[in-house]
Amino acid sequence: MINQDTINKIMDTARIEEVVGDFVSLKKRGTSLIGNCPFHNEKTPSFNVSVTKGIYKCFGCGKGGDAVHFIMDHEKYSYPEALKFLANKYNIEVEETVQSPQNIELQNARESLYIVSEYAANFFANELWTGEDGRAIGLSYFKERGFREDIVKKFQLGYSPDVWDALINGAVAAGHKEEYLEKTGLAIRNDKGKLYDRFRGRVMFPIHNFTGRIIGFGGRTLKTDKNVPKYVNSPESDIYHKSNVLYGLFHAKKAIRETDNCYLVEGYADVLSVHQAGVENVVASSGTSLTTEQIRMIGRFTENVTILYDGDAAGIKASLRGLDMILEEGLNVKVVSFPDGHDPDSYMHHVGAGDFKKYIENNRKDFILYKANILLKEAGSDPIKRAGIIRDIVESIAKIPDDIKASVFIRECSNLLQVEERVLLSELNKMRAAKFKKASAGNNTSFAQQSQYQAHPQDGPPDNLFENPDPFSQPESDASPDNDQLQEQEIVRLLLAFGHELVNWDKIDNMYIGSFIMQNLSDVVFEDGLCKRIIETYRDEIENGHLPVANQFIKGQDREIANLAITLSTSPYSLSENWYNKHKIYVRDETVNLKATILGGIFHLKKRKVDRMLLQILSEIKTEIDPVNQEILMGRYSFIKGVEKEISKFLGSVILK
Ligand code: UTP
Ligand code: MN
Repeated sequence: MINQDTINKIMDTARIEEVVGDFVSLKKRGTSLIGNCPFHNEKTPSFNVSVTKGIYKCFGCGKGGDAVHFIMDHEKYSYPEALKFLANKYNIEVEETVQSPQNIELQNARESLYIVSEYAANFFANELWTGEDGRAIGLSYFKERGFREDIVKKFQLGYSPDVWDALINGAVAAGHKEEYLEKTGLAIRNDKGKLYDRFRGRVMFPIHNFTGRIIGFGGRTLKTDKNVPKYVNSPESDIYHKSNVLYGLFHAKKAIRETDNCYLVEGYADVLSVHQAGVENVVASSGTSLTTEQIRMIGRFTENVTILYDGDAAGIKASLRGLDMILEEGLNVKVVSFPDGHDPDSYMHHVGAGDFKKYIENNRKDFILYKANILLKEAGSDPIKRAGIIRDIVESIAKIPDDIKASVFIRECSNLLQVEERVLLSELNKMRAAKFKKASAGNNTSFAQQSQYQAHPQDGPPDNLFENPDPFSQPESDASPDNDQLQEQEIVRLLLAFGHELVNWDKIDNMYIGSFIMQNLSDVVFEDGLCKRIIETYRDEIENGHLPVANQFIKGQDREIANLAITLSTSPYSLSENWYNKHKIYVRDETVNLKATILGGIFHLKKRKVDRMLLQILSEIKTEIDPVNQEILMGRYSFIKGVEKEISKFLGSVILK
């Protein structure tokens, strides 16, 4: 573990504008810097960097954080990796605290697996380029298939000699333990306890994780014998988990981000060919059918996936269903299919790099429309089959979590299928309802907020969707019906923004707003998980005689807390002078009447809580049959109603909001 002193030193030294500036070109705008967001595609800059706060925030996609978070997001690094990156940038020596022996051993064991895999890749590559068989058999095979030398080198392709122990002997002579050869699956122990090489007489494709370390291999046979499996792959190990690896991602990630699209192919050979054609944003799920983890991994780099399909594949229809999974993860899916039974690899070598590139750029079809077309062709004029298609298509659309996107598809499919939009919508709502029912039966509320569609989606989404790009910055009180999240967030926002200011109101002298708020809320229970954690930390610290600062939440390691703290403490008004012009939202300066702002926050939350108590009691009264109990409940109701009146009166008289 990196010790706290080092972390502090890194945090103190790293300057947000320098760290971000290495990746984004920033211009001065008012009190902050602004540029095009590196995390989503945009033409007008909405990515803000506040030098004084040491944080960045994109008002387009919502990403935000400090220098460490930026490196984590941009480079896909873990927290310690990002710290080390910054330490390196600023020449800070990283001191690590001593770990427990078990930890070290565990880490060393994993490290040994990486090291032996790396050794193996070098061994296989060396055989390919300098070994007699390697050159004669392996290298000439790649050349015959049309792979250029630079591609063979870039992907570290290799050759495994056709004997039982070439790798083992080399590795052991170089000081590697048999144990690790076995744990990576590079070697296998037979019944008699003898170790032999897994890969023999095959061309080798090393598999990298996304930071570029080698974690496994695929080996392709060069024999035509049907009894020999075409590919032998590394088994699962401590460093290789098939379901969350995409072949080629390490070499593709930069291009994926730049082009904001990821091409998805089936095999190793396809990745190499597409890459060779100059299209570097390509990955393969290789061998396994696509998993949710793999889709999410792509989603960390782009929202757009383009599937490159084999031409005729009878399997297309079956695989169409699998693609719904990608929609479900919120990604946009396009497909390109190839003519005459070609796959991406064969088509690239057939037409050449230039034409191939043009072809895939010009033949992308939206997946849902593509699917509709295929099914339509198949159904012909059979009305029953056509009805089945409608269900099938709407099922796909129902998977799209974004309502606006979904409504666009509904409209397009209504044209294509010659079915009224209204019919498709009612089908869609039925499916959503069924899904919702299923989800809530499983005690899963994640669908609870999914709305039903209106019959006329062309009316567009409600205007305020666009008017208020940062819904947290100015919570509309009483807007959300079922919980107090907005009001609770408002309190946290006030604590972070004004906690350190002193008040001198009426009889209150020289008290910190932080303490004042906490005192006034001692009887209030927070419900929102994140707010609750922040409030509890705040309260604990005050009780220990220390007033927390916003930065400890913003720059803490807990990413959820940090995100909320950042969202709540970046008011768009201080970041962009153009805000009013751009969005036509006017908000008065709350610091002008800080007392009203603070008391408003506190009492709006209290009123929320009280209102909900009242509703709760009312519903209890309705279901209570025992008249005595009813009486008690009525008494409680009128007491709390009294409190509510007080609060309302207070809000009405003191608070301007
Ligand atoms: P392909 O048969 O399309 O392989 O299988 P390919 O990579 O295009 O190879 P060439 O063109 O025949 O040389 C697609 C993927 O399925 C996995 C591999 O990951 C392969 O790249 N696969 C295939 C296996 O794991 N085992 C097999 O026996 C076959
Ligand atoms: Mn192939």
